[in-house]
Amino acid sequence: MKPIVALPLVLAACPLLASCENSGPERDFERMVNQAHFEYYEEAPFFEDRRVMRDPPEGTVPRERFVGPPEVTNGMVDGAFVEAIPVPLSRPMLDDGRKRYEIFCAPCHGVGGDGVSVVAHNMELRKPPSLVAAPVLDYPAGRVYQAIAQGYGLMPTYGQELGVEERWSVVAYVRALQLRTNGVAVDTLPEPVRARMQKELR
Ligand code: HEC
Repeated sequence: MKPIVALPLVLAACPLLASCENSGPERDFERMVNQAHFEYYEEAPFFEDRRVMRDPPEGTVPRERFVGPPEVTNGMVDGAFVEAIPVPLSRPMLDDGRKRYEIFCAPCHGVGGDGVSVVAHNMELRKPPSLVAAPVLDYPAGRVYQAIAQGYGLMPTYGQELGVEERWSVVAYVRALQLRTNGVAVDTLPEPVRARMQKELR
């Protein structure tokens, strides 16, 4: 008969327990730090090779790594920069590239990409180069992508701020700035644009 007596007792104790919740023994938030554990590079007797740092299971992919074809995720294939932008271009992409360029690149490389900015004026050691003149003008698309993804010399990486798609949008916008500054060969224009231009210039 004991359980039947015990149940009302437990129920009666509930409000008491609830009111005790905040005045109980202090929670030990340090217990994960203080519990028995190994430090990096220590020996772990229970593994055959005694290494405490274990390799992740085969095929594990770091959370921050982008997966996909290397020309898109890396801007490089077999150690060589890709020449052309390897993703489809579109107007929304260029608009997005412009927005991000003006936030992340223009403060140093200038709104027009010509390397004229207050930061450039004050950077003494090596200035942000013009992106619309040689040598950057002649860089393959992958090199500009890599500058964003990895940084370059004194330039910090923008790999945290810009994902793969956004980096290519910025590269595309840099290309647009280069074309705006340096002009476009008429015979490379798409037919409708060429026709309109010829009509308007006549
Ligand atoms: C804090 C200033 C700063 C910002 C912001 C910045 N850059 Fe740069 N960038 C530099 C400097 C300085 C260099 C030259 C570095 C050197 O020679 O050590 C450079 C170099 C480059 C180069 C040439 C790399 C090469 O391989 O020669 C490219 C391309 C470039 N930047 C593109 C960009 C783009 C695109 C952005 C925006 C995502 C950007 N930069 C943002 C300062 C900046």
